[in-house]
Amino acid sequence: MDSFELNKIAAAVFGSALFILVLTIVSDYLYSEPELEQQAYIVDLGESVKDMASAVEEIVEIDVMSLLILASAENGAKVAKKCASCHNFQPDAPSKIGPNLYNIVDRQMGIVDGFAYSKSLAARGENDDKWNFDNLFHFLENPKKWLPGTIMGYAGIRKPNDRADLISYLHNISPDSTSVIEE
Ligand code: HEC
Repeated sequence: MDSFELNKIAAAVFGSALFILVLTIVSDYLYSEPELEQQAYIVDLGESVKDMASAVEEIVEIDVMSLLILASAENGAKVAKKCASCHNFQPDAPSKIGPNLYNIVDRQMGIVDGFAYSKSLAARGENDDKWNFDNLFHFLENPKKWLPGTIMGYAGIRKPNDRADLISYLHNISPDSTSVIEE
């Protein structure tokens, strides 16, 4: 083997090393593409989870009436004991820490005379918003989340059935309510 032939071999080795290097760079570049795609896919999944969550919320919203049809006002009266430290339920009874709740279903928000409401609740009242079934159902689940700025210091009632029972009881003590629980 003469030195010319050795040079050829060296050139071939160098050449293939260079080829492998280029191949590595190119494949790294190509490999980065599927990774990006995968990330985009994860974001998509996040979006569809959000969609699912809002669809579930919608179902729950539609279901307030179905829950009310099956609700027990008798159990609701028991649930209402949780409110009694702050609210009266009898006609013409004074407000306590919270306003009197007699006739609350369909009553305009923040309207009890002489009660010092939070700005947020007073604003809803000025907007002529009412305590209909839906509003009560969502407020009572988590008052501070549904009405930021409220001064009602109560964590809320997590179980939808308990809330429906309570609203059914409140409905029974709301002679001026125009809402009907439709079967
Ligand atoms: C620790 C005291 C406290 C408890 C317990 C409590 N509330 Fe209240 N509630 C308040 C206060 C204070 C307000 C006034 C909120 C505001 O102005 O933001 C209020 C306001 C309300 C309102 C709005 C009334 C209106 O005139 O617009 C409703 C409805 C209500 N409470 C229902 C309930 C129910 C039902 C329960 C029991 C599950 C309950 N609350 C438990 C203190 C309480």
